[in-house]
Amino acid sequence: MANVTVIGAQWGDEGKGKIVDWLASRADAVVRFQGGHNAGHTLVVGDQVYKLSLLPSGIVTGTLSIIGNGVVLDPWALKAEIEKLTAQGVEIDADNFAIADNCPLILPLHRDLDGLREQAAGAGKIGTTGRGIGPAYEDKVGRRAIRVCDLAHLDALDSQLDRLCAHHDALRAGFGQPPVDREALINELREIAPYVLQFAQPVWKRLNQVRKAGARILFEGAQGVLLDVDHGTYPFVTSSNTVSGTAASGSGLGPSSTGFVLGIVKAYTTRVGSGPFPTELEDEVGQRLGERGHEFGTVTGRKRRCGWFDAVLVRQSCAISGVTGIALTKVDVLDGMEKVKICTGYRLRGKVLDYFPSHAADQAEVEPIYEEMDGWAGTTAGARSWADLPAQAIKYIQRVQELIETPVALVSTSPEREDTILVRDPFVD
Ligand code: GDP
Ligand code: IMO
Ligand code: MG
Repeated sequence: MANVTVIGAQWGDEGKGKIVDWLASRADAVVRFQGGHNAGHTLVVGDQVYKLSLLPSGIVTGTLSIIGNGVVLDPWALKAEIEKLTAQGVEIDADNFAIADNCPLILPLHRDLDGLREQAAGAGKIGTTGRGIGPAYEDKVGRRAIRVCDLAHLDALDSQLDRLCAHHDALRAGFGQPPVDREALINELREIAPYVLQFAQPVWKRLNQVRKAGARILFEGAQGVLLDVDHGTYPFVTSSNTVSGTAASGSGLGPSSTGFVLGIVKAYTTRVGSGPFPTELEDEVGQRLGERGHEFGTVTGRKRRCGWFDAVLVRQSCAISGVTGIALTKVDVLDGMEKVKICTGYRLRGKVLDYFPSHAADQAEVEPIYEEMDGWAGTTAGARSWADLPAQAIKYIQRVQELIETPVALVSTSPEREDTILVRDPFVD
């Protein structure tokens, strides 16, 4: 298997960016295939910290980086992110960066609608990143999106805008908002069009060429399986399919290209935004995980909710996404804890479950069944080989892999790129 598909196996922020960056130097292309700038992927290389939301993490190593058709693209966010990274010394040009020309755009009206809906929902809000992701995907499947290729045909935009604005003006009126300012929108698009178009191409074609030449492709998922619009904690999810299969449909390569599916798994659990979270800890242990793990959102700065490792959820994610092996991250955050707990099942109204039920009310009601293990006194932080790990930390890792029924391929022991233990090479297996 020459290719690797990286996906988050929990509620996002598992450390996908770090692992993609670590693998990127051995890949010939890195491809984002879903989501948008709701993602926040952090890379730490020496004293440099890179935060990427829309650009594939491969851009930092100079690897060919591609935004696939499955992504929703905010052109202004793209420009700002390229400028930010360029200022950090990263080279980005039409040779090492491409955008699918059939990629739908996120427009200011999508951000407006995201905000209006969240505001109106009050306590029932989803807790979105406010980036307009959901409304942009709705317009894509509603067949009224403006896409990257439309930027080369702005003279023909009028009839497309008729469809788009008829829909949005009705929604906006419901929120007491004025209709879309079409003139302003066209002017903004006219201004940004050449910038986006310099990178636009049919990337399915480029990727198929790359594949035929025997190159290694690294697919970079955003969010996590539990935020998947079908398999996640619906309706508290994002609006795309975050599972591994989307790598094929979101890039223009067939399912046989997915290769080794590497699930990124945090050694405990976090979630940002609303929705059920069975192992959430609202006590000082949760507080400690948050502090030691620096659990604040990369995109919105929000505090992430923290809890014990939930083996039921991760086993389910690995099954649904066909995970070949996992990268277990942030093991070092558990260093020095006297006891650690793992959720091995749920109790729901007197019954024991070995899976996470689909209904929101059941998801909110399940009570975790825990297994307790001794913690470890030594440190895993910065370990680069299995031999550097305390025996009890190895026991924890082994118990995790047993419970999730999926082998460990990598272990990450700090934010730094090189603090990574290779157990099984995803590019070779
Ligand atoms: P992503 O969205 O999955 O790419 O993850 P984020 O970048 O949003 O969040 C992961 C955070 O954990 C980032 O701040 C990383 O630098 C950091 N991180 C990644 N791996 C490790 C690790 O093994 N140990 C520690 N302590 N931090 C890590
Ligand atoms: P990365 O790629 C964690 C969450 C939001 C909210 C829900 C819907 O960094 O792991 P959206 O704006 O997508 O409509 O919000 O999804 N969410 C994430 N949580 N990591 C992410 O990305 C996320 N992207 C979206 O907090 O609960
Ligand atoms: Mg993140």
